[in-house]
Amino acid sequence: MSDPSPLDKEARLDLGPVQAIPPGQGRCFRIGSSAIAVFRLRDGALRALDAHCPHQGGLLSDGLVDNEKVLCPLHALAFSLHTGAGLHHSLRVSRYKEIGRARMPSSA
Ligand code: FES
Repeated sequence: MSDPSPLDKEARLDLGPVQAIPPGQGRCFRIGSSAIAVFRLRDGALRALDAHCPHQGGLLSDGLVDNEKVLCPLHALAFSLHTGAGLHHSLRVSRYKEIGRARMPSSA
């Protein structure tokens, strides 16, 4: 399966201070014509997925999150914050690794 993200796999981008994302919430960052949703979990970890739900384009950064998953705000499909895989459905989004304020796409 090919990576659906058009972002450069080698790029590292400064997304600003982590404090800009309240614990337990997500924010959408636009990078050129692409967008990623970055989540700051309540345990302090960061997770990043493609911003738009593959179902009908819901903005995942506006969804409810726990330390394991995000629920799309439009129709509540769940996606793993660890892998981007759909939970109980076959859709998926790309997942990115977060390193401090920078992001680097995951090879997984
Ligand atoms: S748009 Fe995300 S579940 Fe429908």
